[in-house]
This record gives sequence, structure tokens and C-alpha cells, in this order.
Amino acid sequence: MCGIVGYVGAGGDGTALDVIMEGLARLEYRGYDSAGVALVSNGEIALQKKAGKLVNLREAIAANPMPPSGTAIGHTRWATHGGPTDHNAHPHLGGPDLRLALIHNGIIENFHALKSRLVDDGVVFTSETDTEVAAHLVAREYAASGDLTGAMLAAVAQLEGAFTLLAVHADAPGVVVGARRNSPLVVGLGTGENFLGSDVAAFIGHTREAMELGQDQIVTITPDSVTVIGFDGEPAEGRRFHVDWDAAAAEKGGYPNYMTKEIHDQPRAVADTLLGRTDAFGALVLDELRISEDALRAVDKIVFIACGTAAYAGMIAKYAIEHWTRIPCEVELAHEFRYRDPVIDAKTLVVSISQSGETMDTLMAVKHASDLGALTISICNTHGSTIPRESDAVLYTHAGPEIAVASTKAFLAQITATYILGLYLAQLRGGTYADEAQAVMKDMHEVPAKIQAVLDSMDRVREIARFMADTRAVLFLGRHVGYPVALEGALKLKELAYIHAEGFAAGELKHGPIALIEPGQPVFVIVPSPSSEHGLHAKVVSNIQEIRARGARTIVIAEEGDEDVVPFADEIVRVPATPPLLAPLVTVVPLQVFACELANAKGLDVDQPRNLAKSVTVE
Ligand code: G6P
Repeated sequence: MCGIVGYVGAGGDGTALDVIMEGLARLEYRGYDSAGVALVSNGEIALQKKAGKLVNLREAIAANPMPPSGTAIGHTRWATHGGPTDHNAHPHLGGPDLRLALIHNGIIENFHALKSRLVDDGVVFTSETDTEVAAHLVAREYAASGDLTGAMLAAVAQLEGAFTLLAVHADAPGVVVGARRNSPLVVGLGTGENFLGSDVAAFIGHTREAMELGQDQIVTITPDSVTVIGFDGEPAEGRRFHVDWDAAAAEKGGYPNYMTKEIHDQPRAVADTLLGRTDAFGALVLDELRISEDALRAVDKIVFIACGTAAYAGMIAKYAIEHWTRIPCEVELAHEFRYRDPVIDAKTLVVSISQSGETMDTLMAVKHASDLGALTISICNTHGSTIPRESDAVLYTHAGPEIAVASTKAFLAQITATYILGLYLAQLRGGTYADEAQAVMKDMHEVPAKIQAVLDSMDRVREIARFMADTRAVLFLGRHVGYPVALEGALKLKELAYIHAEGFAAGELKHGPIALIEPGQPVFVIVPSPSSEHGLHAKVVSNIQEIRARGARTIVIAEEGDEDVVPFADEIVRVPATPPLLAPLVTVVPLQVFACELANAKGLDVDQPRNLAKSVTVE
């Protein structure tokens, strides 16, 4: 739930502090309730940490400058054990003379037992965190051996749970040691300097060369070396890779906030996710999947597991993939899947969907599925993250870094990736849609321009949002693939604007929710294309009539040229005609814009909504 940066360089100037502060700014999306930095300088640890956003730390350092150094660690936190206070902020110091500084992402599950043992030994704790336990354990081991890597190795052997740890010691200038288990850690490879980060964004301004660490590994960086060992003490190797995101891709690109930028990135996110998936003849090729075609042909059930917005991508995928492949699909919230007794075997394909690749609920569900013998595929936006590593195969979305906490462009990229996967399975297994997969892919390639057209016509939606800034509750209705879109529209409004919002399947309205309709109640309705099968369009039009008759104020998302909705709509938001299964990629966009604009109108921070974190790395 936290962001971690480490740096070693020649030192002697302010570089280390600058690198850490820049890295923390880029990682603030991982957590932002407190931040801190520790430097090794002249045989001492210099430490500053502050509750609140990074600006508080920056101001504290400006008021009380830190000494020059070439060795530093920094942390941005989202509280788990212990509230967001200055004391609980990282780094934490360890040892009787407090000469070791340590930062942590994750949860040390056995910290109570470890802490009481340390307290019995006379250690005095200054925070309520689980992290401080690790700081004292590493310090104690260092006192015995004088070797920071060995001390980390001995300490992690005592820890249970999920953690990335970075440590520096006052007596070891030019060395940062990191360890990871079930939490992310990536190495940035420089010349005469090296970096550690929760992800590559931490050091993207300095190097594009990176190394992914495996689970249960310890890395020691000095200005000129990077050494990896396993938790068993044996030498190990990370996987080197080149980062092709440029620093500017992670900036706001001229928009007032990341959320707006990311909503506008969506045509690109979908187009990039479609890139390179077909051969010269238009057939789908998913080389990266690395699961045998025979195994994929044998699949008799697909289970999507995800959380939040990603789970709605899974719900949409179910409609499309069952239609194309005739393979039964289930969709389940990862945290529910993990703790029941799902019927899973070697013929079950479990597809996890996660922007960050670090969501602990999803990770644990993937491990559970693997333990049960299922094939696991991860749909993920973040290279080097944990969920893809724990899966048999990965299909990366190419949405680029998503910084705003509430997901937008990653959602569209996730839908796109699940569709690619579904069409690939259809192609592989034969049947009606094997031949049509290429035609659907062609339709998908037209979607980015349609999203752009929606984005270019959002003035009225923004006006409606500003006009509704005082609204207390909003309902969203949809049917078929429009149903998860309604759920996502409601989630965006809750997350960004803190307005009570509910999404319903339009057909379910008459079974209860219609009691909520009173005069003036705003209701968004996602209308399916008139070209939809089974008379779906007409059914939704009559749902609109039902709520309108009871006084609802209807805001209708409908295809261009759909005149049937006109008599029953207080507002109509037009989207380009799109094949019914692809419609979510365009119909969700006005709902994102609406939520973002309404939150802006209320003066809220759309990038970092209260109580939420981008990457929820606890269960
Ligand atoms: C958090 C975020 C949501 C996101 C969910 C799943 O709750 O606030 O926006 O949808 O996690 O995240 P993932 O990284 O797994 O897609």
C-alpha cells in the first residue's frame, strides 16, 4: 500500500535527497497519508518524516535542510498498522543507538509475537507499526554480523506476511539492502548509481534500465554493483528489462489532474492494447500467453477474478466470451472467491484482472486457483508486478501508468484485453466465431476513434455535472453489457464525488429499486444499440418510460440516430453507433467525465479521493 524508493550514488551533494523526493512524487499514487526519508551522512542517519501529503515533508525539509549524502531511502505511506501520524510514518529506526533506518510496504503478520519478544528484551518502541519490529530485528542482526545483507537475510527468516523492506545503516554508507516477499520491488540500473523502487516510475527520470526481482529475494545495491540472493542465501538473478515508458507519459500532459488526462488517454490505451495481436493475415496471435494450445482447447470453464473496476471489466467479458466461445464464464470478486470452496480443476481457466498487479485480494485468489490446479492468466497493466509473476501466463494491457486512484483508462484496456483473449480462444477452438474473430477485431480497431468522438462532445455532460453538484443520489440503469457499465458509472460517482450512487440491471428495477424513484430523482440510462438482439433496445426504452412516469429525471446515453428515446429523455448524451458487445468501451466514457466534472465542481481531489488507495496490498 506504500511507495518505496532507494538510492546509492557517489554522494557528497544533494543528489540522493533529490532522487528520493522525485521518486516519492511519482509514487504518491501508491499511498499518500505520510512520507519520510532517511539519509546516511557522516556516519549518522538523518531522518525526516511527516504525516500528510508529500508537500508536508517537502516543507519540513525546506525548514530544516538535510545534510549531503549519496545513500538514501524514502517512503510514501497508506496506513495499515497505526494511524497516519508523524511517529508511524516511515522510515523507522532500529537498534539501541537507532543507527539503522528501514522502510516497509506490506504487512508483517506475526509482528505481535515478535514485538513482545523484543519488548521483553528491553527494546522501546516509538510507533504502533509492524514495521518498527523489522527495523529492530535487522539492526540486532547487523550488530552481531556487521553485514547489512546478512542481517536482512537473518531478519526476513523471522517474518511472516507480505513485505518489501529497504534498509540503510549509519555505518554502511553507499549500501542499500532490499528484500521482497509478495510485495513489489524493482531495481533501476544506473552508471555509478543504482536505484530501488516499488515500480519503475520511482526512477524513470534517471534510468530506463531495470531489473525485476523474484519472490523471496534480497538485493544489495552500491554505486557500482547490484547483487541478488534468495532468502535461502544462495546467489540469484533478477530479470533485466528496458522500460519503454518515458517520464512525460507519467505526467499530467497539460490536463488539470491525472484523472482528466487518463480519461483522455483512453483512445490510445485501447489502440495500444490492440497493437501487435494479429499476424499479417489478421489472425490473432498471442505469443506472450505461453500456455499450450491444447491446454487452452481443453478449457471447459472460465472464472474471472478481480476487484473494483477491474471486476466490472470481468462482468462485461462474460457476456462477450460466452457468446463467442460457448465456454461458461463466471465472474467473482477475488476476496469472495478466495474464501469459499470454488469448483475448480485443471480445465478451469482463471483469468485475473488487475491494473496494478499488486491487489492482495486478487493475488491471493490467483494463488488459491493455482493451488487448486487451474490454469491462470493475468490481465495486467504493470510490468514486473506480482500477479503476473504468480500466473501461468500474462496478457498485458498497454494503458501506460495510471496515476489517478480511481481507474478509467485501465478499465477500457482491460475490457479490450479480455475481448482479445476471448476472440483468441474462439479462433483456437473453432466454431461460429472462429471465422468472425477477425471481423470483430476490425470493429475493435474502430473503437478508439469512437471514444475520441465521445470525448470531443462532452461539453453538455460537463454542464449537467456542474448543475448537479448538490445532488444527493444518482441511479444508473443498464442491461446486458450496459449493466456492468451502470455499476461502473455508479462506482465512479461514489469514488470521485462521494455521492450515493447505485447501478441496477434495468430489468430488475420493477423488482424493488423502482421504489427509490421520486420526483426529480436523476437516473442515467445506458440504452443498448437498436441493433441489439432479442428486442433489448425496446425493453430498455420501456424501462425509461416507467421511471419517467414516476417523476425521474432521465439522462439517457443512446446511439446516434436512436430517435425512440427522445420522448422520454430529459437529457440525451449521444455516442457513435457501435456493435452491441463493444458498446461499453464508448458508453462508459460520459459516465467517467460526469463523475470527474461533478467532483471538480464540488472542489474535491479527483486524483486522490478520500479513504482510497490505488494499489490495495492488504486483504
Ligand atoms: C483499488 C482502486 C480501484 C481499483 C481496484 C482494483 O480499490 O481504488 O480503482 O479498481 O483497487 O485494482 P487493480 O490494480 O487490481 O486493478
